[in-house]
Amino acid sequence: MAEPILQLSNVNKSFGPIDVLHDISLAVKAGEVLCLLGDNGAGKSTLIKILSGVHQPTSGTILMDGEPIQFASPRYASDLGISTVHQFGGAFPLMSIGRSFFVGVEPTRKWGPFSIYDRRKANEIAVKAVQEFGITRIDDGDRLVGGLSGGERQSLAIARAVHFGARVLILDEPTAALGVKEAAHVLRIVLEARKRGLAVIFITHQVIHALTVGDHFAVLIRGALAADFRKGEKTREEITDLMAGGEAMAELEAEIESYQSAHEGRAPPVADLR
Ligand SMILES: Nc1ncnc2c1ncn2[C@@H]1O[C@H](COP(=O)(O)OP(=O)(O)O)[C@@H](O)[C@H]1O
Ligand SMILES: [Mg+2]
Repeated sequence: MAEPILQLSNVNKSFGPIDVLHDISLAVKAGEVLCLLGDNGAGKSTLIKILSGVHQPTSGTILMDGEPIQFASPRYASDLGISTVHQFGGAFPLMSIGRSFFVGVEPTRKWGPFSIYDRRKANEIAVKAVQEFGITRIDDGDRLVGGLSGGERQSLAIARAVHFGARVLILDEPTAALGVKEAAHVLRIVLEARKRGLAVIFITHQVIHALTVGDHFAVLIRGALAADFRKGEKTREEITDLMAGGEAMAELEAEIESYQSAHEGRAPPVADLR
């Protein structure tokens, strides 16, 4: 099996007295989609911020291609091919598609063929990159990003990351605000990125979305890794249970039952439940 691109080993993160992540160990491989699941506040965003250089772990190590590494800044992480796409594609609504595709990319760096902004060429490259991902509706690089649908913006951002050589694509809840059709669009692009050999870290609340594209699943509960399994190892019900705190619900049921058997079937007063 291929060596993981990224590996977290016993990573902890605290903000002052608040412990947010506890002892996380997780591997991310090329050509795989890792779905990071968990309730609000579980620590998903904090975890990916550690992987993208926004936060430093309080303790533990990160390995990239088997070597220990510190992502000292988001810029450094992105130079190493770790690309994060935020929920709304992160693009500037008043910018053209061509402009936004090249924004922040110094033309003198290894990617850029220009030293001055060449609108026609930028548009041509941007449109081609997006169309290669199957988004044929985007055919004019002069159109404003603000006129794109949510799914199209996400897709543009993903195509951009791939075009500029991302090896790890991190998507924080990309489908959360999208309708069914738009979400399907983004999921297809996730699969395309995987096909091109990227490692994709896909954060979502939606178990269906995770099951559609995921090869590997990690469930965070209150900052700890509650489950780490591969496709086919758990059913949809089991995953939903895990995410919805199914264990907590089972505990509650057991408590109610034991109260009822001791109190002639009467329901327990709410105050008696933990
Ligand atoms: N910069 C911060 N300082 C203090 N607490 C934080 C900070 N960032 C996140 N947290 C806390 O960490 C926990 C996990 O947050 P987050 O990673 O955003 O969860 P998720 O993305 O799973 O919803 C939350 O309780 C949140 O309040
Ligand atoms: Mg979050």
